[in-house]
Amino acid sequence: MALIKLENLHKRYGTQWAVKDVSIEVKEGTTCVILGPSGSGKSSVLKMINRLIEPDSGRVFYKGKDVKEYNVIKLRREMGYAVQNIGLFPHLTVEENISLLLKEIKWSKQKIKERAEELLILVGLEPKIYLKKYPSQLSGGEAQRVGVARALSADPPVLLMDEPFGALDPITRRKLQDEFARIKSTLRKTTVFVTHDIYEAVILADEIALMKDGELIQKSDPFELWQNPKNEFVMKFLGNEYGFHILSKYTLQSLGKLKECVERNGLPVVNRSFSLKDTLSLMLKYRTKSVVVEEPDKRISLLTFDEILSFVDKKRNLEDRINDARI
Ligand SMILES: Nc1ncnc2c1ncn2[C@@H]1O[C@H](COP(=O)(O)OP(=O)(O)O)[C@@H](O)[C@H]1O
Ligand SMILES: [Mg+2]
Repeated sequence: MALIKLENLHKRYGTQWAVKDVSIEVKEGTTCVILGPSGSGKSSVLKMINRLIEPDSGRVFYKGKDVKEYNVIKLRREMGYAVQNIGLFPHLTVEENISLLLKEIKWSKQKIKERAEELLILVGLEPKIYLKKYPSQLSGGEAQRVGVARALSADPPVLLMDEPFGALDPITRRKLQDEFARIKSTLRKTTVFVTHDIYEAVILADEIALMKDGELIQKSDPFELWQNPKNEFVMKFLGNEYGFHILSKYTLQSLGKLKECVERNGLPVVNRSFSLKDTLSLMLKYRTKSVVVEEPDKRISLLTFDEILSFVDKKRNLEDRINDARI
């Protein structure tokens, strides 16, 4: 069952549609990324989930119940919320910022401190250094990490994130995106993530909901979006680089068993944690169609360019079968 269900949402400002007939279902434990150009209505959709704004018409269900039937404070406690430029309270330390909600729900001081430390470690900040700092003493990337920690503080089942890494320089942004992709799998939250960053969408999404001018244009998993874009807009918006983003989402682990070999033959050596994209990039750099994969037990196997092709092919066949079953 869908944990979050948006049904025929509409929202208009004056004569302008911000959101036009958007319906989306988000299954428990999955991440739905709402992707689209600036002004396409992404934030408006997100804010209807935790009732920061109310739709003109249409409904939002959480656990099968209309969000209007929830006490709004209780609803928001179920839904951690992280936004761009994060809005940490400047007069409170990092620890106090993270613990605001925990104090409200009357956790003990000791438990709050432990939780704040645990969260800082999770988002990659050393508690000893950061707990007592004030927001003005943090870099943009650090503040953003604290923002994510705060959204996670009371371990809410749902995370709503609105371009949380949008204001960062490209290098810090990429680092945080990759780290978030990594911790996401351990958190197992139901997440709705708004972004206009295509790489971010691909690596984080189980499903991508692509919006334009307030409307939902296509919703499918990142691979399917690549293979079967619904129209010209989808194709143009994703761009030619999209395929590389897809290949960066999968590591060599996804290739399964490879042909064992004994000689390295001067080929570049990789391990299973390499992404398909990085492997491809190495092949190009060394102008070779093969690399050697070193397994943890030190045995080696050979990976050829054709195997990357056949991975894409296999996934496509799988998608086709799923689509056939849907019809
Ligand atoms: N409070 C508001 N008043 C008037 N227009 C708004 C308001 N909020 C959003 N809009 C308009 O609605 C459209 C969608 O906005 P938004 O949901 O913020 O888009 P996105 O998050 O995709 O950039 C935009 O054209 C924006 O200008
Ligand atoms: Mg927005």
